[in-house]
Amino acid sequence: MGSSGIVRRAINSALASSVPRASLRVLELGAGDGSLALRVATRLAAAWPGAELTLLDRQALVADATGIAFAHLGWTLRALTLDALEWARAPTQRQHPDRWDVILTNLFLHHFEADALRELLSAVAQRCDAFIACEPRRSVPALIGSRLLPALAVSGDTLHDAVVSVRAGFRGDELSRIWPAGLPGWTVTERPAGLFSHLFVAVRRDPA
Ligand SMILES: C[S@@+](CC[C@H](N)C(=O)[O-])C[C@H]1O[C@@H](n2cnc3c(N)ncnc32)[C@H](O)[C@@H]1O
Repeated sequence: MGSSGIVRRAINSALASSVPRASLRVLELGAGDGSLALRVATRLAAAWPGAELTLLDRQALVADATGIAFAHLGWTLRALTLDALEWARAPTQRQHPDRWDVILTNLFLHHFEADALRELLSAVAQRCDAFIACEPRRSVPALIGSRLLPALAVSGDTLHDAVVSVRAGFRGDELSRIWPAGLPGWTVTERPAGLFSHLFVAVRRDPA
């Protein structure tokens, strides 16, 4: 779906006007096996050496080889096996380790019902300076695209997941309306991205 390029460009754009930091702190929620983060990091590592990356997922999916690949890039990896709502409900500490330059998600937010999503985004807004979410776009072309997957010889499970994901995806300003209202300093944008993705970006212009 071209997600890694979409996410990488969104991170670059979100960080473009920020003050250079000693080391970038990034958290991915619902990170799976970390392969998306690794593709993004491979392209960002030259500009952001020595970043600290935390991959949170409720399943322990990050292989040792992935940790080694991040180490080769000079990035420090921490894999956190935790439910994202448990993370959201933990008391906020504004310093290490609960403060992030960037929190990102890919193919993750559509797993949540509106109330849980509101709770999750509220915690995100308290804990980072930039939030990037790349999700399935709920659209007729995306649904048609997902139904064409058998032509690529994908498995029945993958086809089912793709169709369900598109149906649970986002469009318009749906995520902006769930993002906590009235927070000072935040700029929020939401738009279609690539062929089938929906991109939500929130950036705090006066980082706390
Ligand atoms: C479709 S995968 C996306 C993985 C990764 N972001 C990527 O793009 O390759 C969704 C991931 O979200 C995780 N997940 C779903 N609900 C979760 C929750 N409540 N807390 C933490 N992780 C969750 C699943 O375990 C799965 O690894």
